[in-house]
Amino acid sequence: MKAREIRPEVYWVGAIDWDRRLFDALIPLPDGTSYNSYLIKGSEKTALIDTVDPTKENVLLNHLNQLGVENIDYVIANHAEPDHSGTIPRVLEQYPQAKVVATPKCKDMLIDLLMIPESRFMTVGDKETVSLGDRTLEFIHAPWVHWPETMLTYLREDKILFSCDFFGSHLATTDLYVTDEGQVYEAAKRYYGEIMMPFRTTIQNNLEKIKGYQIDIIAPSHGPMYDQPEFILKAYHSWAFDEPKNIVVVPYTSMHRSTLKMVEYLVGALVQRGVTVKQFDLTVTDIGKLAMALVDAATVVIGTPTVLAGPHPNAAYAAFLTNALRPNLRFVSIIGSYGWGGKTVEQLAGMIPNLKVELLEPVLSQGLPGEADFRALENLAETIAQKHKEQNLV
Ligand code: FEO
Repeated sequence: MKAREIRPEVYWVGAIDWDRRLFDALIPLPDGTSYNSYLIKGSEKTALIDTVDPTKENVLLNHLNQLGVENIDYVIANHAEPDHSGTIPRVLEQYPQAKVVATPKCKDMLIDLLMIPESRFMTVGDKETVSLGDRTLEFIHAPWVHWPETMLTYLREDKILFSCDFFGSHLATTDLYVTDEGQVYEAAKRYYGEIMMPFRTTIQNNLEKIKGYQIDIIAPSHGPMYDQPEFILKAYHSWAFDEPKNIVVVPYTSMHRSTLKMVEYLVGALVQRGVTVKQFDLTVTDIGKLAMALVDAATVVIGTPTVLAGPHPNAAYAAFLTNALRPNLRFVSIIGSYGWGGKTVEQLAGMIPNLKVELLEPVLSQGLPGEADFRALENLAETIAQKHKEQNLV
């Protein structure tokens, strides 16, 4: 594929990774991803905005060769994570006069991660600008989207916001811009849930910060660009600011079907009371789907048997992950079966210190659940439904 023109002398020069299926050895990529890099040829200077994952460095270098780029003055590093910075050393080799433009924090991280010599850097402050002649780049410090060093780059004359991971989606597509809003909404929400949700408060601040900018195009570093930015701005606003919804997420695992019976009973009792439920069998679920469900949920009920005196490791993983993702939850509970005892509740409850939640009375059944256990599950469903009503969650 060739470089693609966005505006006169502004090009997409990135790489599409159709076949990648895992990111950070953690995050499933059911639809692949892309590493977007952008070239701006000003009347006096040329800038490259972010690079690509080092596995795709030849794709980027070919794009630059095809465009006849003999000189790059600035390599803008919006973010130090190697899927965007990993090809900077190769670009610096090919363009020995190029300077890496970064926040002071990003400079330190790039020295640590890629051993780029300090002499190759030019650091920029918040709202500082660099002139390319007929075009101006403004750098907007936007920490914690999603590392501490991140910034956005705004091309003033063309009103393009190069937002790096902010507003991104892991989606391999030949569409330069969003064409299928439903598909991109899901991919962007998955991305938000997995990557951005732990930093919801700073996301709110950064959304406020860019309100003053006129933006015709948002050009993220993953997934298609937004030529109607309202679509993604509205979605992010809702994910970051809205109250949670009348939704219960039930991640569970079951060894001999006792916990499964309890999960099924609770789900039925919640649905009868008008609560939406999203149920995930942790042995098969895609954790991106779980992360997405957590964006809107008010309550999580973890279902687990007791194994070796504690929660099943799958349930411990779900609790650890939920704690790390810091969704905007209000309530948590635990249900499941045990054979002869253990500390399942104490151990799981101790794994979620980041969540500002009320722990609702757990329901544990010795062996197969019986009448009394089902009554307790009925009570738990009633409590959840009432709590959601009291908080006006819809
Ligand atoms: Fe796409 Fe945080 O790197």
